[in-house]
Amino acid sequence: MARRSLQPIYWDGDAVMIVDQRVLPHKDKVLRCTTPRQVIQAIKKMAIRGAPAVGIAGAMALALGAQSITAADPKTFRRKFVGLCDRVRAARPTGNNLGWAVEAVYSVAVENPDADVPTLQRLIREKSQQILEEDIAINRAIGRWGRQVIPKGARILTYCNAGALATGDYGTALGVIRAAFEADPTVHVTCCETRPFLQGSRLTAYELLHEGIPSTLITDNAAGSLMQQGKIDVVVVGADRIAANGDTANKIGTYTLAALARANGIPFYVAAPRSTIDPTIANGSAIPIEERDPKEVTHFNGRRVAPKEMAAHNPAFDVTPNKLITGIITEVGILKRPYRKNIRQALEQA
Ligand code: MRU
Repeated sequence: MARRSLQPIYWDGDAVMIVDQRVLPHKDKVLRCTTPRQVIQAIKKMAIRGAPAVGIAGAMALALGAQSITAADPKTFRRKFVGLCDRVRAARPTGNNLGWAVEAVYSVAVENPDADVPTLQRLIREKSQQILEEDIAINRAIGRWGRQVIPKGARILTYCNAGALATGDYGTALGVIRAAFEADPTVHVTCCETRPFLQGSRLTAYELLHEGIPSTLITDNAAGSLMQQGKIDVVVVGADRIAANGDTANKIGTYTLAALARANGIPFYVAAPRSTIDPTIANGSAIPIEERDPKEVTHFNGRRVAPKEMAAHNPAFDVTPNKLITGIITEVGILKRPYRKNIRQALEQA
């Protein structure tokens, strides 16, 4: 399968190829994964990240694993496959798309009870590719809806990386920005560096330059001041998991931006596919928040900054309450209050 220019993951024969986002933008390194374990490690170590991209990686890990399951009959195959699904699902906890993709791939085994093992292996591999391709189409739809809320010449603020690299391609929040820029080249993007992993300064900045979108990088701390000075017209961010009531988990610091946007009368949009919505979680307080290595906080670029004895706390995500969200841009439209009802209806749509 040919790789599109910023596509972070793709099949090459029987291998899953993952663009190593830890070394971007300065190195173009691609990991060749031939076992599910390698893909799971790539997810855990953030070589691939961003909720939709992690979901796609999970689906491809299952396809790799399915290929190597030795089973004389479909029943044994399914039993072994369930164990693999559990291991893949556990790779990262907060993003909903991983569990969603695992369910989607597992349903292939359930929906084809009479298929023999080689057929199941083929169908599972095809499903992983389908999830990738559908994600790209979904992002383009999110872009078409989202550009409608971006005013002419808008100064847009975004956070973390919700771009091509975080998805199958094109991006969610950055998909909205790409679509807005295609229609109106006078927009300007402010991108926050996004401590501690720097997805903004390394990945979003790289994507914005790649697309030729006028943009400026700021420290996370500068966002409030810019809003206060009237230099931001709209905020668009991605999401990792959206509860049934619209509360949204996204990269740590998103809640701060939403509160600042509200304080300054600036619309705050979340852009995400429906696969990010978790209807089993009533509100944001039940969203599992990943705690990452404290070294990401105590060290910078591999070098210790904080004193040796200093303890650090490193939650990777926070939850923005629905009341701070102007709208949730999905592939089927922009969801507004009352979120619980409108989210339910959006999930019921084909
Ligand atoms: O820890 P990361 O880099 O996986 O976090 C990514 C984000 O928080 C993104 O904003 C989110 O996954 C949406 S990506 C389309």
